[in-house]
Amino acid sequence: MPVIAVDGPAASGKGTIAKRLAAHFGYPHLDTGLLYRAVGWVVRDRLDDPRAAIAAAEAFDIAMTCGDELRTEEAGRAASKISAIPEVRAALLAFQRSFAAQAPGAVLDGRDIGTVICPQAEVKLFVTASVEVRAGRRHKELQARGNPSIYADILADLIDRDRRDSERATAPLKAAEDAFPLETSQMDADQAFAAALAYAAPRIS
Ligand code: DC
Repeated sequence: MPVIAVDGPAASGKGTIAKRLAAHFGYPHLDTGLLYRAVGWVVRDRLDDPRAAIAAAEAFDIAMTCGDELRTEEAGRAASKISAIPEVRAALLAFQRSFAAQAPGAVLDGRDIGTVICPQAEVKLFVTASVEVRAGRRHKELQARGNPSIYADILADLIDRDRRDSERATAPLKAAEDAFPLETSQMDADQAFAAALAYAAPRIS
Protein backbone atom coordinates (compact mmCIF):
# COMPACT_ATOMS: atom_id res chain seq x y z
CA MET A 1 0.00 0.00 0.00
CA PRO A 2 1.32 3.47 -0.80
CA VAL A 3 2.60 5.45 2.16
CA ILE A 4 3.11 9.21 2.29
CA ALA A 5 5.59 10.27 4.98
CA VAL A 6 5.51 13.92 6.01
CA ASP A 7 8.26 14.94 8.42
CA GLY A 8 9.46 18.28 9.72
CA PRO A 9 9.96 20.45 12.80
CA ALA A 10 7.23 21.71 15.15
CA ALA A 11 4.77 24.16 13.59
CA SER A 12 6.19 23.71 10.08
CA GLY A 13 2.72 23.13 8.63
CA LYS A 14 3.37 19.41 8.05
CA GLY A 15 0.12 18.46 9.80
CA THR A 16 -2.01 20.61 7.52
CA ILE A 17 -0.23 19.32 4.42
CA ALA A 18 -0.60 15.71 5.61
CA LYS A 19 -4.33 16.15 6.32
CA ARG A 20 -4.97 17.67 2.91
CA LEU A 21 -2.97 14.98 1.10
CA ALA A 22 -4.95 12.32 2.99
CA ALA A 23 -8.25 13.90 1.97
CA HIS A 24 -7.07 14.18 -1.63
CA PHE A 25 -6.03 10.53 -1.96
CA GLY A 26 -8.74 9.14 0.33
CA TYR A 27 -6.18 7.73 2.79
CA PRO A 28 -6.38 7.68 6.58
CA HIS A 29 -4.03 10.10 8.32
CA LEU A 30 -2.02 9.61 11.51
CA ASP A 31 -0.54 12.57 13.37
CA THR A 32 2.22 10.65 15.16
CA GLY A 33 3.03 13.66 17.36
CA LEU A 34 -0.25 12.91 19.13
CA LEU A 35 1.09 9.53 20.27
CA TYR A 36 4.05 11.18 21.99
CA ARG A 37 1.81 13.96 23.32
CA ALA A 38 -0.59 11.38 24.80
CA VAL A 39 2.25 9.54 26.55
CA GLY A 40 3.84 12.81 27.72
CA TRP A 41 0.52 14.01 29.09
CA VAL A 42 0.03 10.88 31.20
CA VAL A 43 3.41 11.42 32.89
CA ARG A 44 3.50 15.24 32.81
CA ASP A 45 4.14 15.37 36.57
CA ARG A 46 6.90 12.72 36.37
CA LEU A 47 8.89 13.84 33.33
CA ASP A 48 12.22 12.97 34.93
CA ASP A 49 11.20 9.33 35.48
CA PRO A 50 11.83 7.41 32.24
CA ARG A 51 10.27 4.22 33.67
CA ALA A 52 6.91 5.97 34.02
CA ALA A 53 7.07 7.15 30.39
CA ILE A 54 8.06 3.67 29.15
CA ALA A 55 5.17 2.07 31.08
CA ALA A 56 2.73 4.64 29.62
CA ALA A 57 4.04 4.00 26.09
CA GLU A 58 3.74 0.24 26.54
CA ALA A 59 0.11 0.74 27.63
CA PHE A 60 -0.57 3.04 24.65
CA ASP A 61 -4.06 2.92 23.22
CA ILE A 62 -5.45 5.13 20.46
CA ALA A 63 -8.19 6.31 22.86
CA MET A 64 -5.40 8.14 24.75
CA THR A 65 -4.97 10.51 21.80
CA CYS A 66 -8.37 12.19 22.32
CA GLY A 67 -8.64 15.45 24.21
CA ASP A 68 -7.96 19.12 23.58
CA GLU A 69 -5.29 19.26 26.28
CA LEU A 70 -2.95 17.32 23.95
CA ARG A 71 -2.83 20.36 21.63
CA THR A 72 -1.35 22.61 24.31
CA GLU A 73 2.25 23.79 24.43
CA GLU A 74 2.62 21.97 27.77
CA ALA A 75 1.74 18.67 26.07
CA GLY A 76 4.15 19.46 23.21
CA ARG A 77 6.99 20.08 25.63
CA ALA A 78 6.25 16.88 27.55
CA ALA A 79 6.13 14.96 24.24
CA SER A 80 9.48 16.38 23.16
CA LYS A 81 11.04 15.19 26.43
CA ILE A 82 9.69 11.64 26.58
CA SER A 83 10.21 11.11 22.84
CA ALA A 84 13.98 11.05 23.42
CA ILE A 85 13.66 7.77 25.37
CA PRO A 86 14.47 4.87 23.00
CA GLU A 87 12.12 2.41 24.80
CA VAL A 88 9.23 4.87 24.41
CA ARG A 89 9.87 5.09 20.67
CA ALA A 90 10.19 1.30 20.40
CA ALA A 91 6.87 0.80 22.22
CA LEU A 92 5.07 3.07 19.73
CA LEU A 93 6.66 1.61 16.60
CA ALA A 94 4.31 -1.34 15.91
CA PHE A 95 1.19 0.80 16.13
CA GLN A 96 2.59 3.25 13.55
CA ARG A 97 3.77 0.48 11.19
CA SER A 98 0.41 -1.28 11.23
CA PHE A 99 -1.36 2.03 10.60
CA ALA A 100 0.93 2.56 7.60
CA ALA A 101 0.18 -0.91 6.21
CA GLN A 102 -3.59 -0.50 5.90
CA ALA A 103 -5.54 -0.26 2.65
CA PRO A 104 -5.80 1.74 0.48
CA GLY A 105 -2.70 3.59 1.71
CA ALA A 106 -1.84 5.98 4.53
CA VAL A 107 -0.40 9.37 5.36
CA LEU A 108 1.71 9.72 8.51
CA ASP A 109 3.28 12.91 9.77
CA GLY A 110 5.99 13.27 12.40
CA ARG A 111 9.76 13.45 12.75
CA ASP A 112 11.06 10.02 11.75
CA ILE A 113 8.44 8.57 9.40
CA GLY A 114 10.66 8.63 6.31
CA THR A 115 13.80 7.59 8.19
CA VAL A 116 12.67 4.97 10.75
CA ILE A 117 8.96 4.12 10.67
CA CYS A 118 8.44 3.81 6.91
CA PRO A 119 11.81 3.95 5.13
CA GLN A 120 10.13 2.37 2.07
CA ALA A 121 7.45 5.09 1.77
CA GLU A 122 6.52 5.93 -1.83
CA VAL A 123 6.48 9.64 -1.02
CA LYS A 124 8.63 11.43 1.55
CA LEU A 125 8.29 15.11 2.22
CA PHE A 126 10.44 17.12 4.61
CA VAL A 127 8.54 20.32 5.42
CA THR A 128 10.47 23.24 6.89
CA ALA A 129 10.13 26.98 7.48
CA SER A 130 12.34 29.39 9.38
CA VAL A 131 11.84 29.29 13.14
CA GLU A 132 10.58 32.90 13.12
CA VAL A 133 7.93 32.09 10.50
CA ARG A 134 6.88 28.99 12.43
CA ALA A 135 6.64 30.95 15.69
CA GLY A 136 4.54 33.61 13.92
CA ARG A 137 2.15 30.99 12.55
CA ARG A 138 1.79 29.20 15.90
CA HIS A 139 1.25 32.54 17.69
CA LYS A 140 -1.54 33.52 15.28
CA GLU A 141 -3.15 30.09 15.53
CA LEU A 142 -3.23 30.24 19.34
CA GLN A 143 -4.66 33.76 19.31
CA ALA A 144 -7.31 32.75 16.78
CA ARG A 145 -8.38 29.99 19.19
CA GLY A 146 -8.63 32.57 21.97
CA ASN A 147 -5.57 31.33 23.86
CA PRO A 148 -3.25 33.91 25.40
CA SER A 149 0.06 33.79 23.52
CA ILE A 150 3.31 35.73 23.62
CA TYR A 151 5.39 35.61 20.41
CA ALA A 152 8.76 35.71 22.21
CA ASP A 153 7.77 32.77 24.42
CA ILE A 154 6.61 30.72 21.43
CA LEU A 155 9.86 31.48 19.60
CA ALA A 156 12.03 30.49 22.58
CA ASP A 157 10.01 27.31 23.02
CA LEU A 158 10.37 26.30 19.35
CA ILE A 159 14.13 26.91 19.38
CA ASP A 160 14.34 24.71 22.46
CA ARG A 161 12.16 21.99 20.92
CA ASP A 162 14.07 22.03 17.60
CA ARG A 163 17.28 21.50 19.51
CA ARG A 164 15.91 18.62 21.57
CA ASP A 165 14.25 16.93 18.58
CA SER A 166 17.37 17.25 16.38
CA GLU A 167 20.05 16.39 18.92
CA ARG A 168 18.56 13.27 20.49
CA ALA A 169 20.46 10.06 19.75
CA THR A 170 17.47 7.91 18.70
CA ALA A 171 15.55 8.82 15.53
CA PRO A 172 16.39 12.54 15.57
CA LEU A 173 14.55 15.05 13.40
CA LYS A 174 16.42 14.69 10.13
CA ALA A 175 15.41 14.62 6.47
CA ALA A 176 15.65 11.22 4.80
CA GLU A 177 18.18 11.30 1.98
CA ASP A 178 15.42 10.64 -0.54
CA ALA A 179 12.93 13.13 0.95
CA PHE A 180 11.61 16.06 -1.07
CA PRO A 181 12.55 19.25 0.83
CA LEU A 182 9.60 21.64 0.99
CA GLU A 183 10.62 25.04 2.35
CA THR A 184 7.38 26.92 3.11
CA SER A 185 8.62 30.19 4.68
CA GLN A 186 7.48 32.15 1.62
CA MET A 187 4.32 30.10 0.97
CA ASP A 188 0.80 30.21 2.31
CA ALA A 189 -1.05 26.98 3.16
CA ASP A 190 -2.56 26.60 -0.33
CA GLN A 191 0.79 27.06 -2.06
CA ALA A 192 2.48 24.58 0.27
CA PHE A 193 -0.24 21.99 -0.37
CA ALA A 194 -0.04 22.56 -4.14
CA ALA A 195 3.73 21.97 -4.06
CA ALA A 196 3.31 18.82 -1.95
CA LEU A 197 0.61 17.46 -4.25
CA ALA A 198 2.63 18.18 -7.39
CA TYR A 199 5.42 16.06 -5.93
CA ALA A 200 3.22 13.27 -4.53
CA ALA A 201 0.64 12.73 -7.28
CA PRO A 202 2.94 11.19 -9.93
CA ARG A 203 4.42 8.85 -7.28
CA ILE A 204 1.05 7.48 -6.16
CA SER A 205 -1.00 5.01 -8.27
O1 DC B 1 4.55 17.26 15.91
P1 DC B 1 4.27 17.58 17.36
O2 DC B 1 4.58 19.01 17.76
O3 DC B 1 2.89 17.18 17.76
O4 DC B 1 5.26 16.64 18.18
C1 DC B 1 5.42 16.73 19.57
C2 DC B 1 6.76 16.12 19.99
O5 DC B 1 6.70 14.70 19.80
C3 DC B 1 7.95 16.60 19.21
O6 DC B 1 8.59 17.68 19.85
C4 DC B 1 8.85 15.39 19.12
C5 DC B 1 7.94 14.22 19.31
N1 DC B 1 7.72 13.45 18.08
C6 DC B 1 8.66 12.51 17.74
O7 DC B 1 9.67 12.41 18.43
N2 DC B 1 8.49 11.71 16.66
C7 DC B 1 7.39 11.83 15.89
N3 DC B 1 7.23 11.02 14.85
C8 DC B 1 6.42 12.81 16.20
C9 DC B 1 6.62 13.62 17.30
